[in-house]
Amino acid sequence: MTKATPDVISRAGELRDILTEHNYQYYVLDDPRIPDAEYDRLFRELQDLEAKYPEIVTPDSPTRRVGAQGETTFEEVAHRIPMLSLDNAFSEEELRDFDRRVKDRLKTTDDIEYVCEPKLDGLAVSLHYEAGILTRAATRGDGYTGEDITANIRTIPSVPLKLRGDSVPDLVEVRGEVYMPLKGFESLNKRLADRGEKTFVNPRNAAAGSLRQKKPSVTARRPLEMCAYSVALEDESQLPATHWDGLQQVRNWGFRINPEMRLATGVEACLKAYDELMEKRASLPYEIDGIVFKVNSLALQQQLGFVSRAPRWAIAHKFPAQEELTVIEDVEFQVGRTGAITPVARLKPVFVGGVTVSNATLHNMDEIRRLDARIGDTVFVRRAGDVIPQVVKVVTERRPDNARVVELPETCPVCQSDIVQIEGEAVARCSGGLFCPAQRKEAIRHYASRKALDIEGLGDKWIDILVERELVRTVADLYLLKKSDLTGLERMGEKSAENLIKAIDRSRHPVLWKFVYALGIREVGEATAKALASHFGTLEAISEADEEALQSVPDVGPIVAGHIRSFFDQPHNQETIQALRDAGVQWQSEEITAEEKPLKGETWVLTGSLSGMTRDEAKARLEALGAKVAGSVSGKTSCVVAGEAAGSKLAKAEKLGVPVMDEKAFTGFLAAHNTQS
Ligand code: IVH
Repeated sequence: MTKATPDVISRAGELRDILTEHNYQYYVLDDPRIPDAEYDRLFRELQDLEAKYPEIVTPDSPTRRVGAQGETTFEEVAHRIPMLSLDNAFSEEELRDFDRRVKDRLKTTDDIEYVCEPKLDGLAVSLHYEAGILTRAATRGDGYTGEDITANIRTIPSVPLKLRGDSVPDLVEVRGEVYMPLKGFESLNKRLADRGEKTFVNPRNAAAGSLRQKKPSVTARRPLEMCAYSVALEDESQLPATHWDGLQQVRNWGFRINPEMRLATGVEACLKAYDELMEKRASLPYEIDGIVFKVNSLALQQQLGFVSRAPRWAIAHKFPAQEELTVIEDVEFQVGRTGAITPVARLKPVFVGGVTVSNATLHNMDEIRRLDARIGDTVFVRRAGDVIPQVVKVVTERRPDNARVVELPETCPVCQSDIVQIEGEAVARCSGGLFCPAQRKEAIRHYASRKALDIEGLGDKWIDILVERELVRTVADLYLLKKSDLTGLERMGEKSAENLIKAIDRSRHPVLWKFVYALGIREVGEATAKALASHFGTLEAISEADEEALQSVPDVGPIVAGHIRSFFDQPHNQETIQALRDAGVQWQSEEITAEEKPLKGETWVLTGSLSGMTRDEAKARLEALGAKVAGSVSGKTSCVVAGEAAGSKLAKAEKLGVPVMDEKAFTGFLAAHNTQS
């Protein structure tokens, strides 16, 4: 094996420093200086060097976050300085009492300077650095003995493996909170739920579970962060005079400290800081459960000392809880505007996350099964920030004997159409898409949309009025509207009423595929509608086809076939289609459609080269629209498409006054006509 040259050793050292510095910029300063890709390249360069010359690896190398220490031991470790807890204040009064006690003890009437820090909702950890290198990380445990979790802590990118700067002490202990930011928590839970595994109730639980892993490689995949909030030195005389300055020191060593931290003098300023942080709470990317006030001067801290297990110089002013227990009194099913059936838990009202909550979504039947939630169960309800309340856990020990299992109803609670759940889909749906009042507005909006029947002017404003006034129940009612129905309506002018009636009238003769698309059958988009129309030719044939026949159409798989079948199986939908017919809507079968092609009777000429398609393709697409494509320009030519380097044909067209389209216009024209070759 070759030995590392001094150059290699120095390059590896340099890479470690660069990577450590970028880590600091990213995690501590929130100010990345290089793109992730560049970081990855440097990281790989170091990895390659270390793989080639294993003797140059150092324990603080950024490549050694996982695996360097084997499995996590969870060995008992004694804390050199006990890890105490904090007293709580639950009201303004209790905070004022605290401030008064501090002043009384210090025999002063002067305002006290406090550091105000968010109380992060995670787990306390203690980190030992010897000669600047992370040598031991431990949990709080009972405050006197904790567990060794060094191998897991090393995987957290915001924990420095080596302290930055030249003036690092021989021995220092940094304490702080390990927590899981909300985004990471949500994606972790989603990942777990998708695999049918148990999810975590809240970010704190998720952080605890992630630190409790035996394998650091598992912890490494969990999105954990660490924020430092205190420092202790063997030689205390080396510490700055205030807690605040101590934390700035810690930050320079490479730790993240909380960016919301600030100073406040006097209890009024503390109360203001409390209010402001509370305002901000919902928008923070991590969870906090209060604000901690700490006397800033270390000399005063020392004078105040401790009582039982908490310091006299600090207090946690708590925020309203984001989780509470309550009882599911009933489960009802709601129908969304697209027919999705959502189970909603009716809860015994409970004050949580700052509001009284009496409903919580249960999402779908899979979620109910996953939680094993039953009517009568006592559950954890969580409401964080502005997020809608969630049932996150059932307390099965408190389940009463008469608890009822939740069943999906067979028919829609709004329109009584069948509820169907297509295999492989989590969501159950009402199949009365055209008829169901819950889906009315959406059905009309879709029917009238530009890509469907393109009823100009029938926007949300009209739809709201027409549905709310019960002038329109289903799309068929649109065709029965008279101008006099519309002119009396407030906010709607005479002209707009007249235009609307005309636009509705113009939509009476759609081509088949547009009509199929306009029905709003689940998962039947334009392409599928076209494929169905050209395969079956008539609406009758589509509506009578069984699932197997439907699946012989390109793009139609079992799920889409299931949706189509259940749509046409609903008598209410059939009735609405019949009502459309009765109202004079006549869609064209495919053969007739061919006669209606927009370019029927026209002759087009292609010249020059197109960058976006071949000439054959352009020809096929024009032919699909009914045009004949000719090789030479004459006075009878309808249009010339001129690509790059178009020559004599273009000149001739211009001479004869034949319309010319460039490639951009042509592409737009094809898109507007939705052709497919
Ligand atoms: S100071 C002697 N500062 O709250 C003082 N604690 O109830 C020790 N915590 O176990 C703690 N954010 O896990 C302090 N900015 C902060 C904190 C904080 C969260 C947690 C910590 C501690 C618990 C105390």
